[in-house]
Amino acid sequence: MLVRPLGPDDAAAFRALRIRSLREHPEAFGRTPEEVDSLDVWTERLRIDVNSDLDFTLGAFEGDTLVGIAGCHRDRGAKQRHIAHIWGVYVVPERRGTGLGRKIFVAAVERARAWPDLEQLWLDVTTVNKGARALYASCGFTRIAIKPRVLKVGDSYYDEELMALNLKPS
Ligand SMILES: CC(C)(COP(=O)(O)OP(=O)(O)OC[C@H]1O[C@@H](n2cnc3c(N)ncnc32)[C@H](O)[C@@H]1OP(=O)(O)O)[C@@H](O)C(=O)NCCC(=O)NCCS
Repeated sequence: MLVRPLGPDDAAAFRALRIRSLREHPEAFGRTPEEVDSLDVWTERLRIDVNSDLDFTLGAFEGDTLVGIAGCHRDRGAKQRHIAHIWGVYVVPERRGTGLGRKIFVAAVERARAWPDLEQLWLDVTTVNKGARALYASCGFTRIAIKPRVLKVGDSYYDEELMALNLKPS
């Protein structure tokens, strides 16, 4: 299994997996499948990402098949670029429980750690998502806030836990 940053040639496979993740787990992510940007937009975004210290998207591959994804983003603004957000962590159901989620998540943390001036990593996870929360906690992330009823899926509301990893312990 190979984990590597995605580039423009991966856009179609990434977009398909992202849409699948949002369709399968509406309670785990903040977007709907219909809100995923077009292939053209994703192709351009992944092209820019290659030389960026503001965004990357990682993919886990088995052979040529994309089986896991994880993204990381930070704002350019001088007051905000010390914090980056990990988003979109997903492994296809048929490959879960084999260490793949941990591998791609740790790879995302380590890649972000190399960004200049980065001090913290943040992520949002719904409080009902015990598996993902356990993974993040085992990598050192701790709860810094709860955002109540922040996701509305049909008639159901979900709370999100904001978790953080301090990259510059004092
Ligand atoms: C969360 C997810 C990425 C984990 O991927 P995975 O490949 O199954 O994870 P791993 O096999 O590497 O397991 C890593 C750790 O996750 C935790 N974990 C994973 N599934 C779990 C479950 N069902 N129950 C409890 N803990 C679980 C454990 O702490 C595990 O640690 P271990 O290595 O000591 O067993 C995957 O379940 C997934 O894609 N879920 C649906 C989408 C989602 O919820 N994404 C997160 C959005 S914030």
